[in-house]
Amino acid sequence: MLNKKTVEIIKSTVPVLEEHGEAITTRFYETMFQNHPELLNIFNHANQKQGKQQRALAGTVYAAAKYIDSLEAIMPVVTQIAHKHRSLGIKPEHYPIVGKYLLFAIKDVLKDAATDDIIEAWGEAYNVIADAFISLEAEMYDQAEKQTGGWDGFRSFIVSKKVIESEVITSFYLRPKDNGPIASFEPGQYISVKLEIAGEEFTHIRQYSLSDVSHKDYYRISVKREDGLETPDGKVSNFLHQEMAEGDTINISAPAGDFILDTRKQSPVVLLSGGVGLTPMVSMLKTAAALQPERAVTFIHAAANGKVHALKNEVKALSEQTKFKSFVFYDSPTEEDRLANAFDVEGYVTEEWLEQNTDIAQAEFFFCGPVPFMKAINRSLKNLGVADERIHYEFFGPKGELEG
Ligand SMILES: Cc1cc2nc3c(=O)[nH]c(=O)nc-3n(C[C@H](O)[C@H](O)[C@H](O)COP(=O)(O)OP(=O)(O)OC[C@H]3O[C@@H](n4cnc5c(N)ncnc54)[C@H](O)[C@@H]3O)c2cc1C
Ligand code: HEM
Repeated sequence: MLNKKTVEIIKSTVPVLEEHGEAITTRFYETMFQNHPELLNIFNHANQKQGKQQRALAGTVYAAAKYIDSLEAIMPVVTQIAHKHRSLGIKPEHYPIVGKYLLFAIKDVLKDAATDDIIEAWGEAYNVIADAFISLEAEMYDQAEKQTGGWDGFRSFIVSKKVIESEVITSFYLRPKDNGPIASFEPGQYISVKLEIAGEEFTHIRQYSLSDVSHKDYYRISVKREDGLETPDGKVSNFLHQEMAEGDTINISAPAGDFILDTRKQSPVVLLSGGVGLTPMVSMLKTAAALQPERAVTFIHAAANGKVHALKNEVKALSEQTKFKSFVFYDSPTEEDRLANAFDVEGYVTEEWLEQNTDIAQAEFFFCGPVPFMKAINRSLKNLGVADERIHYEFFGPKGELEG
């Protein structure tokens, strides 16, 4: 437990740290990677270059510091991060390294303003926050390993099938190399993929949502090839598309994540996706169709056009066999799409459309897609009075802001 004086120091210095947040975290990562280059095997280099991860970690440390005497208040945030840490293989021994360079960076940026008392108080607060993560992650590691078909860290799988789903999205069917059972998962969860690319100094880890249902003898991921226009091409997605072939080995973590459809509930569900954001939604849709055929499910997918619309036939076939509602939005349909009646609505998903076509008063809303899509959906749902408890979303990258 932190004493009263320490808590006062922390709370009164949070605004100062927030003000210098970016400078502190930039300095923190610089010095940490200089001294522990092995950590570059775990961190996403593209996120680093864009500052996304810096903002996410800094934001969380300050948010946690504000609640330092009542950390239970931010447990949902801690849980979401802990899932990701567990899938990445973050261990207790990593925490003191982060703590050391974070304190060093605070001192280095704030200079004399960071007195010994302040540094000491932040050291203590960091340990309290780190302990909250470490104990939760310990439970998650335990659960991941002990469940039927579970494992610790990364396990080798074979790409048993590679299926082109659209011009930009390809699915990979993964079966365990050891032929053993595989852990079940909740619809919406993801795995981490760890790649060793020949000639590259570091490994690369990325998350991919499981796009099929649980309880099969394989996992399926569906990956969008990220073309860089002015930036380098996405490292892992391009490798998977271009180099990873059927029969090749891929190392993956056990399923993780708290963006899940609770199949014990009966409330209506609206699944909204933009582009590759459909992967967790397809898993949720197929699971609901199998386990809860009476549940009211609305599946709304937005894509540019038919060329990039993945898993189209799979969703269509399901919509013919079950009674869920499906709506396809194209914002730039091709002539072929028009002739084939391949979409229901031309343009974007709007607030008015949601009001008229979904159960705003009762449904649970799940969404995932490009950040502008997520912001627009979030704004619409808020404007329509949907309570926060009924709004669930997943970022395909470090969690960012949806407001504004
Ligand atoms: C929970 C979760 C689930 C996910 N599920 C899926 C899924 O089901 N399917 C899917 O396709 N993806 C999914 N993702 C995203 C996935 O994890 C990867 O982020 C994505 O595949 C891109 O990885 P990459 O290695 O190809 O690109 P990276 O190399 O990580 O690059 C990412 C982006 O940054 C740009 N970039 C690279 N270098 C720089 C630089 N120096 N400066 C500026 N920009 C740069 C690239 O052009 C690219 O657009 C998910 C992510 C999360 C967190
Ligand atoms: C109390 C300390 C820590 C806090 C508050 C914290 C916070 C965060 C946050 C907010 C994210 C982004 C989660 C998301 O939205 O996806 C994240 C991801 C991550 N964390 Fe931590 N973290 C801590 C400790 C650590 C440690 C000790 C390590 C390992 C050395 C680590 C490695 C990572 C990595 C590799 C990612 C994913 C990075 C990426 O995709 O770019 N974290 N963490």
